[in-house]
Amino acid sequence: MIFLDHNAGSPLHPRVGAFLADLVRSAEWSNPSSPHGCGRLARELVERSRELVARSVAQPATRITFFSGASEANAASISHWLSLAGSRRTILSSAVEHPSVRENLLAWEAKGFRVRWAPVDRSGAMDPDWIARTLDDDICLCVCMSANNETGRRLPWLAWANACAARGIPLHVDATQSWLREDLPLDRIARGSACWSGHKMGGLSGAGALWLSDTTGFHGLWEGGSQERGRRAGTESTLSVASLGEVARVWMEDPSARDPWPGWRERIWDSIKVLAGVERTSPGADTLANTLHIRTSRRAETMVQLLDLSGVAVSAGSACASGSLRPSPVLVAMGWTEEEAARALRISVGHAVDGQGVENACEILTRCLDR
Ligand SMILES: Cc1ncc(COP(=O)(O)O)c(C=O)c1O
Repeated sequence: MIFLDHNAGSPLHPRVGAFLADLVRSAEWSNPSSPHGCGRLARELVERSRELVARSVAQPATRITFFSGASEANAASISHWLSLAGSRRTILSSAVEHPSVRENLLAWEAKGFRVRWAPVDRSGAMDPDWIARTLDDDICLCVCMSANNETGRRLPWLAWANACAARGIPLHVDATQSWLREDLPLDRIARGSACWSGHKMGGLSGAGALWLSDTTGFHGLWEGGSQERGRRAGTESTLSVASLGEVARVWMEDPSARDPWPGWRERIWDSIKVLAGVERTSPGADTLANTLHIRTSRRAETMVQLLDLSGVAVSAGSACASGSLRPSPVLVAMGWTEEEAARALRISVGHAVDGQGVENACEILTRCLDR
């Protein structure tokens, strides 16, 4: 299979796989909270991972808390900042957040908060000045993802960070698609948080990291355990957490990590752009280097199946939206009609494909899209 669906979740990175295989074979670690040698070994794995993850974003390890993934980290972080809202009731967020943010915020709306959604245009671009124009004294929290998981479009979260810093308003950034793919200057968030998980970059799913500018008073989503210094109750998923650190190490040590997919996305685009009905959603310079989002002349489900049968994995909209016949809320927020959204295809390269795979994919994509 030529794997072009890294934004949904990539196969295990071979070096991470080898690291985990050794751990599984050694089988000497147990619960990281246990005081005996097996517990201490697990604790070392968790703390090693915390150090590596922290180093990957040039932050102190004390500011990193592990969760079951970015979804839980998003929910816990939003809940934390809203607990400090006082009498303020308005939340600002981008209109194209992942469901783990968007649907959470909608649930908070039902509990008395109001959400204002920052608009984007048909290519997924947001006006970077919107935030400074919109902040007022009722805003208790701002939430802006670093880059969109469906289109790959970068959002102006640094402009949000500047505007929020000037007013002392907390900002939460869902950086799941950017971690290790792009610089994440978290020091620009004066007060706030950012999160990500490792399974987009070759780690196991089931672990995510939350960075907090200040951990004081942070209490996870539920009671029942003092793990993670009281910030997240529940036994750590040691293997998944260890894989998160190993992913960080692999990408930090790889000299090509800064440009891991040299021109592959553009190579694919060049090979299909002449085909009838194929349109690109947003210009390459403004999107993640690994993501190509397009509209074709046929329904995306049909294309995904056809490509799957030909040995190429891509996705229709986001993985969370595929399988349901609803149009992607992200594409609807971008002003696409249902009919247009139904023809959207996401191609995302990453470590599980190589140059030859990309060449073969170009040929298969051209054949399937040209039918
Ligand atoms: C932008 C974004 N946020 C959050 C998530 C959820 O991450 P996890 O699967 O680790 O809960 C994803 C995964 O698709 C994502 O792309």
